[in-house]
Amino acid sequence: MNNLRISDSDRSQLLVAARQAVRQAYAPYSQFRVGAAVLTQRGNVFAGCNVENASYGLTICAERVAICSAVAAEGEGMEIRAIAVVNQREVPCSPCGACRQFIWEFGAEATVIFQGREGVKEMPAAALLPEGFRLG
Ligand code: THU
Repeated sequence: MNNLRISDSDRSQLLVAARQAVRQAYAPYSQFRVGAAVLTQRGNVFAGCNVENASYGLTICAERVAICSAVAAEGEGMEIRAIAVVNQREVPCSPCGACRQFIWEFGAEATVIFQGREGVKEMPAAALLPEGFRLG
């Protein structure tokens, strides 16, 4: 089980990694550049950016790119302790519904850090997605 709170240094590290990842975004259609960084229970950090496509529906959000990278590195036991998501415009941007489910799968108690209306906010994944979907 995760701790709901994360340390100030973990939070800063994740925000730095997410802000660096924004620069890698491939967002020629929306011009909305997003970066995310996952802290795993093992203590590793994995970053991701949004990757758009001319066939718009194929676009992948930054959060899911970061999570897929974490799974690719750590395998099926990967658990999320915290995830940060930022955008280059610094406008409010909480994870979309698909990403909430994706985060929840790997850490219902994970701390989700995102840009709110009045600065950076954080809350547990289960608060962003009550009754997440699981098979059986
Ligand atoms: N996007 C993300 O990367 N994460 C979110 O949580 C919301 C939206 C991306 C997808 C698309 O490339 C752009 O933002 C505009 O929707």
